[in-house]
Parts: sequence; C-alpha cells; structure tokens
Amino acid sequence: MNKFKRTTVTAALIYANGPIHIGHLAGCYLPADIYVRYLRSSGQDVKFISGTDEHGVPITIKAKKEGVTPQEVVDKYYKIIKDSFEEFGISFDIYSRTSNKVHHEMSQDIFKNLYDKGQFIEETTEQYFDAKSQTFLADRYIIGTCPKCGNESAYGDQCERCGSTLSPTELINPRSALSGEVPVMKATKNWYLPLDKLQPMLENYVESHPEWKTNVLGQVKSWLKDGLRPRAMTRDLDWGIKVPLPDTDGKVMYVWFDAPIGYISMTKELTDQWELYWKDPETRLVNFIGKDNIVFHCLIFPAMCNADGRFIMADNVPANEFMNLEGDKISTSRNWAVWLHEYLREFEGKQDIMRYVLTASSPETKDSDFTWNDFQTRNNSELVGTFANFVNRAVVLTQDNFESKVPVRGELTEYDIQTLATLAEFPAKIAESIENYRFREALALMLDVARLGNKYLADSAPWTVIKTDRERTATIMNIGLQIAANLSILCEPFMPFTAQKLREMFSLEGLSWNQSGSDSLLAEGQPIKNLGHLFTKIDNSVVEAQVKKLEDAKQANLLAGKEVPVIKEIIQYDDFSKMDIRIGTIVQAEKVAKSKKLLKLTVDDGLQQRTILSGIAEHFSAEEVIGKQVTFLANLAPRPMMGMTSEGMILMAEDKDGSLAFVQPSKNVWNGGVVA
Ligand code: 2FM
Ligand code: ZN
Repeated sequence: MNKFKRTTVTAALIYANGPIHIGHLAGCYLPADIYVRYLRSSGQDVKFISGTDEHGVPITIKAKKEGVTPQEVVDKYYKIIKDSFEEFGISFDIYSRTSNKVHHEMSQDIFKNLYDKGQFIEETTEQYFDAKSQTFLADRYIIGTCPKCGNESAYGDQCERCGSTLSPTELINPRSALSGEVPVMKATKNWYLPLDKLQPMLENYVESHPEWKTNVLGQVKSWLKDGLRPRAMTRDLDWGIKVPLPDTDGKVMYVWFDAPIGYISMTKELTDQWELYWKDPETRLVNFIGKDNIVFHCLIFPAMCNADGRFIMADNVPANEFMNLEGDKISTSRNWAVWLHEYLREFEGKQDIMRYVLTASSPETKDSDFTWNDFQTRNNSELVGTFANFVNRAVVLTQDNFESKVPVRGELTEYDIQTLATLAEFPAKIAESIENYRFREALALMLDVARLGNKYLADSAPWTVIKTDRERTATIMNIGLQIAANLSILCEPFMPFTAQKLREMFSLEGLSWNQSGSDSLLAEGQPIKNLGHLFTKIDNSVVEAQVKKLEDAKQANLLAGKEVPVIKEIIQYDDFSKMDIRIGTIVQAEKVAKSKKLLKLTVDDGLQQRTILSGIAEHFSAEEVIGKQVTFLANLAPRPMMGMTSEGMILMAEDKDGSLAFVQPSKNVWNGGVVA
C-alpha cells in the first residue's frame, strides 16, 4: 500500500432498474465501505465513488414492463437506491448517475479519442433484428439457449446460470425478448474494440497481479485462454449515450463502454483534482464488484483505459461471489430477496446488525448463504452476548463504583501487562486483513477484542475485588474501559453506528486508526456516559415473521406464474363410457410403511371393501380421511404397489397452489352410486 500516495475506490454502478438487496450489499458495497472507512481512519487520501448505471437494455426492458419511460425508471430507482445506501451507512464521497451531463461528455470524449487514435475497427455486419418491433436485438433484447450449459433463457450478452459471456449469434434457438419472434438478420455498422490485439497487453497486466483473488484470476485466465475477440462498443438503440461521430443517428454506446467511465466522470463531478485520482501512477485504483462483472472490469475496462492512454488501470478488483438466501439463489423476479429499503423500515436503527451479519458470512471465496436464523444467532450470541455485554459491564461497573469517571490506574500486574500487549497487536492484524480484502477475518479479529475485554473482566472479577481493594478495582476498570474505547476505533469500518455510540459514551472524537491499540485513549477522570445496551436480543417471532414473509412471496410468485393446463386431446364417448366411476366411503386408512406419499385406504364400494393405494399422504393424515365419501375409478386394472395391490383410483382435484381436494357428491349418496 505504501507505494501509493492515494486510493480511488469504486463500487459497481448498479442498474437503476430495481432496489438494492442484501446480495448486492454483501457482494460489493459493504466490503468497499469497510475498506474505505479503514483507509480514511488511517489517514490515507481516498475517494469512494459510485452511482447508478442508467443506460442499457436492463433499463428499457424494465420501462416496458412498468409501462413508463426509461427516464421515469431511472429517476425512481436512483432515489430509492441512493437513500437506502445513505441510511445504511455506505459512505460514498459521491453517489451520482450516468445520465448526468458530465458523464455523457466524458464518455463521448473517450469514445472520440479512441476513434481519433484509430483504436476502433469499423465494421458492417449482419445482426439479429426483430422485424415486428423494428429493433436490433443486442444484449438482453435477445434470449436463447446457452451453448455452454443448455439454459433456455440465456441473454444475448450473458448466461446467468453458468456465468458465460455470450454474443447473440452464439445463442441456440434465438428469439426476441420484445415480441417472442424469431429474429431475422439485418446489416448494421458498429465500432469494435479489438480485444484480440490487446490480449498480449492484458495478459501482462493480469500476470503482474498474482495477488488478485483466486476466483477473479480463475475467470479472467479462462477468458484469456479461450482467446479474446473484437467486441462492439456501439448499439442500435435509442436509449443511451449518442455516438459522437457523423451520420450515427440511432446509435448509442454499449452500456458496458459508458458504465465504467462513470467512475471517472463521477470523480470529476466530485473534485477539480479528479485527474490525480485517475491519471497519476501513484494512485491505487480498486474496483469492488460482484462476480458477474469480473470480465468487464479485469479485461474490457483496462483495455479501454490502455487504448485511450490517459488513465490508470486497477491495482485490484476484489470481486465477491454470490450470497444466497435461505439456501436458494436470490432472485429479483421471484421476489426471493431481503430488500434493503424494507429492512431499514422494519429494523429501524439496526443497520449494524445487518452490516455485521453480512460481513461475517460474506461470499469472499465462495457462494455463501444468509439465513434469518443465523442473523438471530449472530446478533444474540456475538453482538449481544460478547460485544454489547463487555461494553455494558465496563460502563456499568464504572458508573456504580467510580461515579461514571475513568478511574485512576495503579500498579499493573503481569496479567494486566499481558492483556494490554495483546490489545496492542490487534490494530495491525485487523489492518492487514482489511488491506488484503479478508473482511470476514478482520471482523472476527475485531470481535476478539471484545472477547479479550470480557475475559479480562471475568478473570479479574472487579465485582468481587471491589469488596476488599478499591484501588485494584480502579486499575481493572481503567484497563477494561481502555479496551472498550479501542473498540470505538476498531469497529468503525464494520459497524459505524455503534462506533458513533461508543464515541459518545466515551466522549471521544477525531481518533484515528493509528491511535488504536493504545492503553490510554481515556484520560483518568474523564466522564463516561451510560447510553444503554448497544445491542438487544432478537426474538424468535421477529425472524419467524421474516421467514414467513419470504415464503409468502414465494407462494404468491408460484401462483402468479401458474396457468390452467391445456385441455387434453379429444376422446370419443366410447372412450369415456369405458370408465366405471363410482362413489364409495373410506372406512379405514393407514400410512404405508417406507412411503412418504401413499395412504392405504379401505373403500366400501357397496359390494365389497376394496383396497386403494392413494398418493395423498403428504396432503392428508390417515385419521382425517376416514368417513369421507370419495369418487373413484372402479374398473382400473389392479396394480401391485409396495407389496400390495391397489384396486382402483381415488379422484382428486388439484388447486392452484398444488393442494389437493376430494371430489365428492354434493349430498351423501349410497356407496356404489355411479358417476356418469
Ligand atoms: O451489473 C450491473 O448492475 C452493472 N450495471 C454494473 C456496472 S459496473 C461499472 F462498470 F459501472
Ligand atoms: Zn450457460
């Protein structure tokens, strides 16, 4: 880190087509915020840049779906996203948008520069075109089968199942996402960045960074191994940044061309000194992203910067993997997500719990899973049981025995010295983890400081010592409080709201990372405020309600997508009349051993008692079906099942949600009654 004079940190410019969920936070924004907060605290010159990506097909598709203009979509979601990040404590220096004038000008300037330097290949090619909606089908406007994994809903630019980056012509059975039509080919001119020519430079670049995370290097190297191909940097669309060349009406920049330029243009909006943060080789550029953005940041954007010749390339691109939710992939369309704006509303003032839990289970090296159960457990045992409990003990014991003033420290014991020495080692260890993008490890170390404090108080037992030795108790409490005061610095990158409360408790302001580890952050006699517990327990009912909310959303989604099945092929009356459908009564029922689905039913059919094995055990218990009149197919050939013979079939109706209902006569009829 020392070879750099300053750091530019960017976090992915998310599409302004929906709100933020916990997957976005864990994947990119929280690690970036922790990193930046740590750098600021340690006195480094850093700018934290992000905003919304307001161009591209994801925006126009959303506009079409909501029946509004693309501008209305981006205006709506920019505000929701910006406000929720702010409330969650993501400390951007600027959160801007790619629809801003500065951004359009900067993107056009870079495009023009590349054009003037002869860095583009101009080529007229046949592209897919939807004749019905008169639109060229690039990126997400075209859907088809992924040639790599067989996913039938892969997009023209990417398969979301296997993560492959695609071009429309690679899709099998392509169809228009706008009309569903099979596209035709039509000639159009586009400007391509010759990534094939830039490959040797990119290989050198990637090889000069063996320290990058293995998940990042893995993806990038596999791309390089496949061989890069020229990639079109323009599109035939009406939403986007106009191509700044003559006779290019109806042509805009590829969204992945202008989006990363947003990092530069937003820095320009932020400060007149922006060039220092983008052109000086002594600036360290770090791009935080999720794994679906790796190739764009590790290959395409560096290729653009290199070809332009004016801008630095990233020193690191610490991409995270994905976070799942309750064992299932987070999905906006299925509403399987914990939305940040809803969390903030439902868990007011509890930002730090979510920040803590998401960091503790961050998908740093592989996909991870968020569960509400884990959220509760970590809060109750780690934040309440360890962190808050320690601070509370230190504050309350001082309040009760030393009039809420930091007591005077006397002679130190061997154990005191050893504890303070251990404390002094933490800041460097935590810093090292953060500087190397190991945020889970850093967080665990931070909690270890609270553990150290708890252990120190438990071992020193000031509550007992006070009865006989006030002076010694004063020393113990002084040390306990110094450890707690250290937490106000060390927890700040992870839990800034809690850090603020700690600073209020201890009347500490303006402390930097470099002062942490000290055994004398608090002066003797300094007043301590008891602001109550930093964290409180979360009840089962709270997390159960969240799980129910998710399940309800899943169910609603399932029902919304369910359609009445199409009618089977026509049959003749003779076919129907062959079926002998009757009414009978279930007189006995029992579960079939070793089968989840089968109930063994004894049905009185008016002539005899017959055995029918019915696959309804997951819907009904044996007890509840006894006595029910049922409709059954009486002349179905007997079928051996599970060592028994089933003599007929009970008719059941399936409801929209998959539940089953018996088909019963509207009044009780005699057993053996014929249905016709
Ligand atoms: O995946 C996304 O949401 C993209 N809009 C990220 C762009 S990051 C950067 F290049 F701007
Ligand atoms: Zn695929």
